[in-house]
Amino acid sequence: MEIQVMAGAIQSTEDDLIVVNLFEGVEVPEGATGAVDQTMSGAIRELIADGDFQGKRGEIAVLYPRGALPASRVAIVGLGPQKEFTLESVRHAAAVAAKKARDLGAESFSSIVHGAGVGGFDVKDAAQAVVEGTILGLYRYQELKNKPPDRADPESFTLVQFDESQVTDVEKGAELGEIVAEAACLARDLINRPANYATPSDLAELALEIAAEFDTMRCQVLNEEDAAELGMGSFLGVAQGSEEPATFIIMEHNPGHTDLDTVVLVGKGITFDSGGISLKPSENMDRMRGDMGGAAAVLGTMLVVGQLELPLHVVGLVPATENLPSGHAYKPGDVITAMNGKTIEVINTDAEGRLILADALAYAARFEPKAVIDLATLTGACVVALGRGMAAGAFCTDEDLLGRLQAASQISGERIWHMPLYDEYMASLESLTADLSNTGGRYGGVGTSAMFLKQFAEGYTWAHLDVAGMTFEERSPSPKLPAYLQKGGTGFGVRLLAQVLRDWAAAD
Ligand code: BES
Ligand code: MN
Ligand code: ZN
Repeated sequence: MEIQVMAGAIQSTEDDLIVVNLFEGVEVPEGATGAVDQTMSGAIRELIADGDFQGKRGEIAVLYPRGALPASRVAIVGLGPQKEFTLESVRHAAAVAAKKARDLGAESFSSIVHGAGVGGFDVKDAAQAVVEGTILGLYRYQELKNKPPDRADPESFTLVQFDESQVTDVEKGAELGEIVAEAACLARDLINRPANYATPSDLAELALEIAAEFDTMRCQVLNEEDAAELGMGSFLGVAQGSEEPATFIIMEHNPGHTDLDTVVLVGKGITFDSGGISLKPSENMDRMRGDMGGAAAVLGTMLVVGQLELPLHVVGLVPATENLPSGHAYKPGDVITAMNGKTIEVINTDAEGRLILADALAYAARFEPKAVIDLATLTGACVVALGRGMAAGAFCTDEDLLGRLQAASQISGERIWHMPLYDEYMASLESLTADLSNTGGRYGGVGTSAMFLKQFAEGYTWAHLDVAGMTFEERSPSPKLPAYLQKGGTGFGVRLLAQVLRDWAAAD
């Protein structure tokens, strides 16, 4: 779908559908919605007066102007109560409108910038949110279906801005929104893609392709032999049960620029998690193709970083492997040695994420980074604690870094919730045979997993985001959920990380 920005009045736009908006409870629309209403001799006011439209969140009504204006249809989308209005409301409204455009078979549609006028948001941020909601709302995973969907996507979407002095900002915001949302869609594709189409080698190939797009980026892929030479016994312990070769992906934007701050992103890349010898129950095991949601977010973010040419040295690390049972597989009770020399007793082969991250976090130290942020679908316990789709669990060794993440979370709409790194968690990671064991027993499973990782995040400032409940949407669509989410991969993390890095680059 082509995305454009135009200066002018939306009521003059010739499209199959034009979209305006209304806050809940407003009886006489103002601004662009008011202008459209007047052109249509009060049709919107009548709709409201008759009680057929209230402006509730997610509500949408379609009117037929019958020649009163050049467009063939007018949609009014509800923004909900003005006092609850956020950029998330903008994304939601944009997604509702885009889906309606598709359902109506509109080839072209245009919209005002929700949230910019009466909404009070910066027009650039609002335009970005509209484009994000539009692209994410229309997302579908189709690659492996022979039959095309009943309704094709619209071919063009135009943001129409009346105030000419703001058109440049709308253009900037729209471009950002497109870059970020397309990268999130790539992450969604990777999560939805079956494990036989998204192997560790496939992820590595994609990383090489992304890096090849930019002069600023390089990518190196380590194979199992390389990893062995580096002493990554923890990563290789997980990998040894699978016939599929493991890869350790290293992407670098602006390598060698010692004047720039270095931020390392680490993504858990388990392309399929069967649990290994500690086999998972078979119900819903297919979802474990999404156990590379952290990796998907990192790859998507690197794509954004390259396109925005951010003045930062950004490193993306992805340890990628399957976790499978076999005659070669690692076993409960085995002791493996991570790159930093620490020995680990494998109590449960299903606690594999922390094992591959242990080596990746140890590897990250060589970049002498200002910060390391890892994203991992690490524990079911995090989902038990916070709920499905509610927030990522955020563990952090530094107030400043946590503040940056929280600020970016507010703007991007990707929620995080601060969790504690209590030293006492370490008591439950004691092992009879090794320096530490890879599981911590029944209670506080999300905290013990984070404290396990902390043993390998040495020499730098670090944040860990447990995204287990966030990367794969299981809930059925409901008016309470954002309309830009569908069942399946969410792309969680791309919007958040893109925002953190943009803010970081702008502040320094
Ligand atoms: N990949 C899973 C965690 C997970 C669960 C992600 C649900 C997404 C949705 C992880 O590797 C795992 O199996 N964790 C175990 C750890 C336990 C054995 C200590 C878990 O959470 O049960
Ligand atoms: Mn597991
Ligand atoms: Zn896992």
